[in-house]
Amino acid sequence: MDLVPAPSGKTPVKSPVVEVEAVEAVDVAEQVEAETVALEDASSEFETDSDGSEDWDTLSHGGDTIQFLRDEQLRDGLVPGACTLDEAVAFRQRLHDIGKAAFVEETIAREAVTAKKLCTAFGIMPPAFLEGAPDESYHPLLAIALSREFARRPKLPQYNTIEDAVRLLQESKNIVVLTGAGISTSLGIPDFRSKDTGLYSKLEHLGLSDPQEVFDIHVFQEDPSIFFSIAKDILPTEKKFSPTHGFIKLLQDKGKLLTNYTQNIDNIEANAGVLPEKIVQCHGSFATATCVKCNFKVLGDAIFSDIRDGKIPECTACPEAIAQEALKPQGLKRKRSSNGQHKDRKEEFDDSSDDDDYEIPTPGVMKPDITFFGEDLPDEFGQRLIHHDRELVDLVIVIGTSLKVAPVAEVPGILPRNVPQIYISRTPVSHTGFDIDLLGDCDVVVSELCRRAGWNLQHHMIPADEAVEVTPLEGHESRHVFKVVGA
Ligand code: OAD
Ligand code: ZN
Repeated sequence: MDLVPAPSGKTPVKSPVVEVEAVEAVDVAEQVEAETVALEDASSEFETDSDGSEDWDTLSHGGDTIQFLRDEQLRDGLVPGACTLDEAVAFRQRLHDIGKAAFVEETIAREAVTAKKLCTAFGIMPPAFLEGAPDESYHPLLAIALSREFARRPKLPQYNTIEDAVRLLQESKNIVVLTGAGISTSLGIPDFRSKDTGLYSKLEHLGLSDPQEVFDIHVFQEDPSIFFSIAKDILPTEKKFSPTHGFIKLLQDKGKLLTNYTQNIDNIEANAGVLPEKIVQCHGSFATATCVKCNFKVLGDAIFSDIRDGKIPECTACPEAIAQEALKPQGLKRKRSSNGQHKDRKEEFDDSSDDDDYEIPTPGVMKPDITFFGEDLPDEFGQRLIHHDRELVDLVIVIGTSLKVAPVAEVPGILPRNVPQIYISRTPVSHTGFDIDLLGDCDVVVSELCRRAGWNLQHHMIPADEAVEVTPLEGHESRHVFKVVGA
């Protein structure tokens, strides 16, 4: 099964927000079963990097784990018996060129290479528990590895250099820009997953098993106070925007911006002047809020002062409905409906009441219209992506996102594979293949790209005399590191 299924039938973009690795884990587990793999105790339980290690994505199978290798580990020759990075790249290219069946025939069937070694070419570490086993024992793992790779968009070999990136910018007419929290960090807004500075690293005090639970719809329904205890920290503030937001606006001014798919809920694109019709807020925004009980909608501003004061905003429409209900004889006889707001108060009522069926109705909580884990994305996301942009797009630029959250993470794989894709971020990603990776602070990268393109990107955060040094990342002909000279 493809990790990124083709957008037909049940489109993946309709699925609710989930962490991308969890999706991958399910698929791999299904394959394990389909291939009748003898991975003992296969439980398909997924473990995230609990030790915070950046080096591994770990898929747990009972006591045994599949460890995913990163290209850096192959390049540095850190794994005994593994392919070199060059060999790995060649094997991957060959697989995409000739397909899975012919590839298996050419390699394993002819004993040109062992399945054990071949696993490493596709980023799977031979597990310790198979050590010493016959090579066939690695076949099921290899099947998983091949499927993962085959589902991945292959890099287009003709795009590698900064000059290529600049030329693409100049020549493209319908650019899809996919953004994440990294484009707002220079404004002092934390991203989510950066070690030490990301929001999730700062939520230990909440005592959640996973910090992402603050954005989990089920957790919110159970106890909205968890979300509102941090909401003030992510609330949009003044009307500022970063040079990267300015870059997106510049693309719009040049008539090149097809759509900006943003995962950000800070609404800052609007501050830069990006038009609403050019933006898809994939994870919603604070611009509006909805009552969880009666669906009454308000503008976000109406609840901001409550949020800033650390209060849980309540619906202003519910009390009227409650009052009308109370006038009816059965008004107080409804089953207690909790808005989940005050667990303690609920218990208090339970203790003081002889009859659990009587209740004092409370107004619903106003939930900002941001998309929580477990909720569907706005319809516009899939509609526009599949039925509009897929036909038109001629360049994809992904900026400041770890691409860890599906379905947005699947966008690069859903767009036509012949369309060039550029990735701009501090940290490269390995689960999606981009043609050109421009690494560093995105504000610096985009200002340098504009300089080289002869475009005038003006922003008070870009010094007039800024000089940027670009160096290739060793072992990667299409990865380039941007640094301000003297920084
Ligand atoms: P992440 O925090 O996962 O990723 C941000 C990426 O931007 C990381 O790769 C950083 O290295 C990079 N970065 C940070 N500052 C940067 C800078 N100044 N220049 C260049 N790169 C920089 O944030 P997202 O990918 O946006 O969803 O997270 C996706 C979703 O996960 C969010 O929309 C949110 C979250 O859970 C929901 O809550 C539903
Ligand atoms: Zn209401």
